[in-house]
Amino acid sequence: MSELYERIPNNVNLSDTPKLQRALEHWLPDYLTWWQEMGPDGFQEDQIYLRTAVSVEASGWAHFDYVKMPDYRWGIFLTPPERKTITFGDHAGKDVWNEVPGEFRKDLRRLIVTQADTEPASVEQQRHLGKTAPSLYDLRNLFQVNVEEGRHLWAMVYLLHSFFGRDGRDEADELLARRSGHQDSPRILEAFNEPIDNWLDFFCFTMFTDRDGKYQLAALAESAFDPLARSTQFMLTEEAHHLFVGETGISRIIKRTLELMHEDSNEDIREAGGVPLDLLQKYINRWYSACLDLFGSEDSSNAAIYFSQSLKGRFRESKDDNIQDHMALEGYYAMNCPTPNGPPDNKEIPLRRAMNCCLQDSYTKDCARALRKWNALIKRAGVNFELTLPSRYFNRGIGFFANMSFTPSGELLTQEEDSAQRKAFLPSKEDRAYVDSLMVRATQPGEIANWIAPPTQGINNQPIDFEYVKSKG
Ligand SMILES: [Fe+2]
Ligand SMILES: [Fe+2]
Repeated sequence: MSELYERIPNNVNLSDTPKLQRALEHWLPDYLTWWQEMGPDGFQEDQIYLRTAVSVEASGWAHFDYVKMPDYRWGIFLTPPERKTITFGDHAGKDVWNEVPGEFRKDLRRLIVTQADTEPASVEQQRHLGKTAPSLYDLRNLFQVNVEEGRHLWAMVYLLHSFFGRDGRDEADELLARRSGHQDSPRILEAFNEPIDNWLDFFCFTMFTDRDGKYQLAALAESAFDPLARSTQFMLTEEAHHLFVGETGISRIIKRTLELMHEDSNEDIREAGGVPLDLLQKYINRWYSACLDLFGSEDSSNAAIYFSQSLKGRFRESKDDNIQDHMALEGYYAMNCPTPNGPPDNKEIPLRRAMNCCLQDSYTKDCARALRKWNALIKRAGVNFELTLPSRYFNRGIGFFANMSFTPSGELLTQEEDSAQRKAFLPSKEDRAYVDSLMVRATQPGEIANWIAPPTQGINNQPIDFEYVKSKG
């Protein structure tokens, strides 16, 4: 039975472990201080129509009501135990672990802390966006994403406190001490240190970066360490909404651009105050390539270790019938690597060392699916333009292609060519200034900024012009 009305709502019988409960109750005020300092700026007193998880059952995890963000009931929810045996890696076939085996402690802690760190980081990155929300519907969605990232931090901190003793408690404190973009104590992953200051970036972030999160969480949901698997499994249910926000956000931008083009086919879309499709393409180039880096190196000994230790699997490792070999001791991942002066280097990465590539491929398929949907919108409007995902070589900061330059279609460039063409492929300073100039805040129910179409549906069957945020002022 879940303890829903406790100070820390949970379904892990927290009251049966008073020491752990006290430790988390001690962490709670620090968390709230962090939220006040680094959470959404200027909206802490407003009433937001939010979804709160009150249990993990299908009927109970999506409860909608007005709530002030600092009063959101951040809780600890794990999906019910499902699997008895480990499904991949060296420990396949043995019982899942409910404690952390000593020899994997360090690696598991590192995996959990790296995941955990992205959750508060994204809240920090997005903290100023409320001031330019294109509608109350979008404002509410932003805050929904933010409070759930806060809950994801709780999910990971619960694991650190419960299973990693003193070290875990220290790590939990560190998670509240690091700051996105801070010079001395930045967030762990580079992509989480840049501010997200406009809504095109926000929708790209929720489309591409949160989607990387989905694949990382899904890989951890296969873990032999069952509390981690069950925590991340439930996080994935919430994550689906974040991805929805990103994917439909970009759809609505495209829809509006097509409307503006239809109204006056001769007019420059910038004159009409819309987002040109070629500008959107540059944002896709930037975000998709940065997110490929989040998967890590193509040939990775860490990835091999995590897989062999049964800590981190592939996407749907235990559910996908196409994955037959759960040991991955044989076979290679073949990859074509262009070289500057000569024939391509055809690499064969031993499968376990190529787990980052496997996860990345699942991610790429998912992104490509979204692009097909967007392109269908464009085609239906009779516009001759196609959005594409850039090549895996393009604009990379990590892995085989980090020190080379490519076009989005994958042709090798010299350094000089690269700096000359960069402007054509990635958002320039002027592009960013233009996007910033579009950002105006809509404050009335049903009001919508000019650069984006309204959603097709409201939240929880409410009308689109519902008062999703009630401002105090
Ligand atoms: Fe998250
Ligand atoms: Fe998310």
